[in-house]
Amino acid sequence: MESLIVLVNEIQRACTALGDHDGGNNALSSLWAALPSVAVVGGQSSGKSSVLESIVGRDFLPRGSGIVTRRPLVLQLRKTGNGTEEYAEFLHLPNKKFTNFALVRKEIEDETDRITGNGKNKQISPVPIHLSIFSPNVVNLTLIDLPGLTKVAVEGQPETIVQDIEPMVRSYVTKPNCLILAISPANQDIATSDAIKLAKEVDPTGDRTFGVLTKLDLMDKGTNALAVIEGRSYRLQYPWVGIVNRSQADINKNVDMMVARKKEREYFETSPDYGHLANKMGSEFLAKLLSKLLESIIRSRIPSIVSLINKNIEELERELDQLGRPVAIDTGAQLYTILGMCRAFEKIFKEHLDGGRPGG
Ligand code: GDP
Ligand code: NA
Ligand code: MG
Repeated sequence: MESLIVLVNEIQRACTALGDHDGGNNALSSLWAALPSVAVVGGQSSGKSSVLESIVGRDFLPRGSGIVTRRPLVLQLRKTGNGTEEYAEFLHLPNKKFTNFALVRKEIEDETDRITGNGKNKQISPVPIHLSIFSPNVVNLTLIDLPGLTKVAVEGQPETIVQDIEPMVRSYVTKPNCLILAISPANQDIATSDAIKLAKEVDPTGDRTFGVLTKLDLMDKGTNALAVIEGRSYRLQYPWVGIVNRSQADINKNVDMMVARKKEREYFETSPDYGHLANKMGSEFLAKLLSKLLESIIRSRIPSIVSLINKNIEELERELDQLGRPVAIDTGAQLYTILGMCRAFEKIFKEHLDGGRPGG
């Protein structure tokens, strides 16, 4: 049986392909809004890209100073069999397999510029880029990378950027089915965290917020982050996860991601402060935790997803009836496509509901 995470991602891709990612009036939009997802939020340079790359085990995200992520990136990870070749694929470039991850980075940059412009005034856009990574080294998981929260527009950014980013990020994390991966750096006071500030607003009970604390290795000597990690500074429903990503020097030296994962594991295992928590820390643990949780949340939402799909099917059939048959125009063809997808999704979800066997 197909993984529920993969299935939900297929619907998200369908919504984007049909040009309806954020609540137009297309029949799939209410479905898109109801689908469980995981969004990554944090301030500039908090370590968002590093955490994502660590979870994937690959170097593939654009980097640089300033606002590098200017469109949401819906990143679908699909676990493949041991020994299979790792590759990436973009929704906007079907049938093109990327095995060189430097070219993945370049394509994200180019595709970002295609919509937002690459001139002096770099804009942001809410239209997501969809990237799938097939690899034996990942867990099944879909993550949405969002532009970093920022307080002032710097050189090369339009003045409006600060006001533009927040509502966009908010539109994702406000959805009740969105898990929030809230990234905060350990070398700053948690009280000043942009991620926690936003998460607290949209999820005051902390039911769907994951606190991730990066840069543990960069804390002042003689201090540690136990108060945060043990939930004494800011309580969340799920335990905080501490992370040690590659430093800028590691990145400059091209330290391999797999080597970095191993170094991170060793850091926790040998740490006098966090040694007792070692098996609940690090990016690999975080990835597994998120995958398990996302799968179980989707499972618990199947009945409501199925009823939403049913509602869509009814609406689509009604619309098609009104158009009259045979339908010659584009709208009709598109409605048929959506209808077909809804029926297919309904069928598979129902199988999951009846079978109850955990997906792969
Ligand atoms: P983003 O802007 O939130 O995506 O942040 P990045 O992932 O690009 O990280 C910003 C900078 O912080 C980079 O130079 C990273 O190498 C560095 N960095 C991120 N996480 C860590 C960490 O855990 N330890 C250390 N030493 N550096 C980190
Ligand atoms: Na950055
Ligand atoms: Mg980044």
